[in-house]
Amino acid sequence: MNIIETRRLRLVPVVRTDIADIHQMNSIPDVARFNTIGIPGNIEVTEKMLEKLFDEKQSSTRGWTIRRQFDDQFIGVIGMNLAAERFRMAEMHYSLLPDYWGQGYATEAVRGLIGYAFEELGLHRLEAGVATGNLASIRVLEKAGMTREGLKRKILPIRGTWVDNFHYAILDEDERDY
Ligand SMILES: CC(C)(COP(=O)(O)OP(=O)(O)OC[C@H]1O[C@@H](n2cnc3c(N)ncnc32)[C@H](O)[C@@H]1OP(=O)(O)O)[C@@H](O)C(=O)NCCC(=O)NCCS
Repeated sequence: MNIIETRRLRLVPVVRTDIADIHQMNSIPDVARFNTIGIPGNIEVTEKMLEKLFDEKQSSTRGWTIRRQFDDQFIGVIGMNLAAERFRMAEMHYSLLPDYWGQGYATEAVRGLIGYAFEELGLHRLEAGVATGNLASIRVLEKAGMTREGLKRKILPIRGTWVDNFHYAILDEDERDY
């Protein structure tokens, strides 16, 4: 796994010493608002969730911390789950600490991951799902040139209700303005 560099950011493969930062971020209600697993009860829950990233045999799960280049500040995570090799496809996900929202960092990280997925990993399709009410994330995906391909109705169990999910994807042949 590689470090991915963008203009302001460095995406660095997650290591065990990142667990505390990731746990703290995932424990913030605003960060967990649209996720289906909710707030982790304790750090062991986060550790277990990240375990796949450290297991060589589970190489289909990749994760990077998002760090600012100028001060190495941890600002979030981004990752992808690769499908079986013949599909040359992965699904991505990301979260940032609220202190760093609204500065274009998520868009920059997603664009960086898309470039890496197509140019370095040779994938041909990258997908992302987003709760229909997650307007900031929808904007991120669209700024990264992803296409809304569909709507999955009532698929996400979030705090006791079924929530709709938009399905987004980008192909290696799709035009990108970055
Ligand atoms: C979604 C998230 C990653 C966005 O991070 P970010 O660094 O603020 O994203 P960016 O700054 O790159 O872009 C956000 C865009 O959404 C817009 N936006 C933010 N809140 C919005 C809202 N409530 N309604 C409409 N647009 C909104 C911003 O204005 C910006 O668009 P612009 O550049 O056209 O002004 C961040 O809010 C987050 O971590 N949320 C919690 C976890 C999460 O939902 N992850 C995604 C799961 S699919």
